[in-house]
Amino acid sequence: MDLAQNYNYKIVKQFAIATVVWGIVGMLVGVIIAAQLAWPALNLDIPWLTYGRLRPLHTNAVIFAFGISGLFATSYYVVQRTCQVRLFSDKLAAFTFWGWQAVILSAVVTLPLGLTRGKEYAELEWPISLLIAVVWVSYAVVFFGTLLTRKVKHVYVANWFFAGYIIAVTILHVVNAASMPATLFKSYSAYSGVQDAMIQWWYGHNAVGFILTAGYLGMVYYFIPKQAERPVYSYRLSIVHFWALIFTYMWAGPHHLHYTALPDWTQSIGMVFSLILLAPSWGGMINGIMTLSGAWHKLRTDPILKFMIVSLSFYGMATFEGPMMSIKTVNALSHYTDWGIAHVHGGALGWVGFITMGSIYYLLPRLAGQQKMYSTKLIDLHFWVATIGIVLYIAAMWIAGVMQGLMWRAVNADGTLTYTFVEGVKATYPYYVVRFFGGLLYLSGMCVMGYNTWMTLRNRETAVARIPALAAGHA
Ligand code: HEM
Ligand code: HEM
Repeated sequence: MDLAQNYNYKIVKQFAIATVVWGIVGMLVGVIIAAQLAWPALNLDIPWLTYGRLRPLHTNAVIFAFGISGLFATSYYVVQRTCQVRLFSDKLAAFTFWGWQAVILSAVVTLPLGLTRGKEYAELEWPISLLIAVVWVSYAVVFFGTLLTRKVKHVYVANWFFAGYIIAVTILHVVNAASMPATLFKSYSAYSGVQDAMIQWWYGHNAVGFILTAGYLGMVYYFIPKQAERPVYSYRLSIVHFWALIFTYMWAGPHHLHYTALPDWTQSIGMVFSLILLAPSWGGMINGIMTLSGAWHKLRTDPILKFMIVSLSFYGMATFEGPMMSIKTVNALSHYTDWGIAHVHGGALGWVGFITMGSIYYLLPRLAGQQKMYSTKLIDLHFWVATIGIVLYIAAMWIAGVMQGLMWRAVNADGTLTYTFVEGVKATYPYYVVRFFGGLLYLSGMCVMGYNTWMTLRNRETAVARIPALAAGHA
């Protein structure tokens, strides 16, 4: 009997579909808020649709709904394949799916209502926060339970990265979310003043380090070698990469709090560790890209591989830019400006988005009992539309950011400011319009993926009729 029939692919498929659906929703909200920044009247004077409420909806939808659904799908797939054993518990795995969807739906309802804890990326009020903790611990039990019951001795490196991400997120979430409930929908942080800020950005930065980085590196180490049909360039480097990365990330959080009430030495530690972080980040990027040695020609014909390799290039770019922005004097220019937004979306659209899309494209046909996706041409179209979208988005925000920084610090000979704030806003307008169109292109690409996904899964009906094993629900 084919080993694949013993794996739980149902849960992988559910999360893969959720990734595509939530990707479209989260990016649509991104495009709406991008439009609101260019044309504020689009708030329509309706409180639920105001920018301040839709912005956290966007970040929650893209990170927690799109991003983490992708991580659930891929980690559940990879841990089964590399341990050659079925998931530890099907029931608990199903609970993580429905529990996570409940978290997302609660966010979709409460954030537009204005219910928030006011901590970035940790906005959801305490009852939802508790649910997150329960689902996450169940995820850990399923993942580590599977690792412990594995049929091969070796723990493949992709699982190290997934394991690091699952453990770190548990700690980060529990510590940062500690709060005192006042009512059902209002709570106050357990910390105050600058300690609160420090814990928040220790959390915030490690959310970048462990969700938006380590988890996706798990995808890199499994799906790139698979798609390229080449072994990882250096297995030894991948282990050094893992330990160096997780050790260094933990200390870099204070770079979000330069020139604040946080003690100066703490800010300097954050800066120094951010600079060190360049080394493991680039080590990992090079390891991923070099995995293509001897298989570069495949890039010409394989759009899935294009997604994966271009994602690593954006990873390299964001992890060069980040350390530069953490230098205090550079941060004095970049902080509060759209340069930060360019950095975020270079990482988010280029790195996180592309590696997720590439991995999900790899998975979908396998989950649908097909040889390949419904249309390879549409994958290629998605790739190009999205790439052009990213370039428009980040180039516009880089220019706008540096311009804002320079305008805000410009002073006349008598020491007065050269520009009023609103002049800076006015000068930014054309760049907001360009960013809107860039975002629209990226979203269109995601919709093309939605169509391709639908058609691939629909074709399963024909496959089921042909292959009896599929009809028995083993696909
Ligand atoms: C169609 C695609 C997207 C568009 C048009 C878009 C647009 C936006 C806009 C307009 C903002 C607010 C910027 C500001 O406050 O000045 C924002 C913030 C943000 N977006 Fe997106 N976004 C998109 C996709 C994504 C994706 C896929 C991710 C993550 C995987 C992401 C992560 C974030 C984050 C983390 C922030 C907050 C940044 C900060 O506070 O510095 N976005 N986005
Ligand atoms: C070596 C790696 C990296 C370093 C040292 C780094 C450093 C930084 C710095 C200095 C800031 C600006 C802080 C401020 O002025 O407020 C920042 C913001 C941010 N970075 Fe990175 N970055 C790195 C990689 C990445 C990657 C790969 C992503 C993936 C998407 C990412 C996502 C973000 C986000 C979401 C923010 C905005 C946080 C906020 O204010 O809401 N970073 N990063």
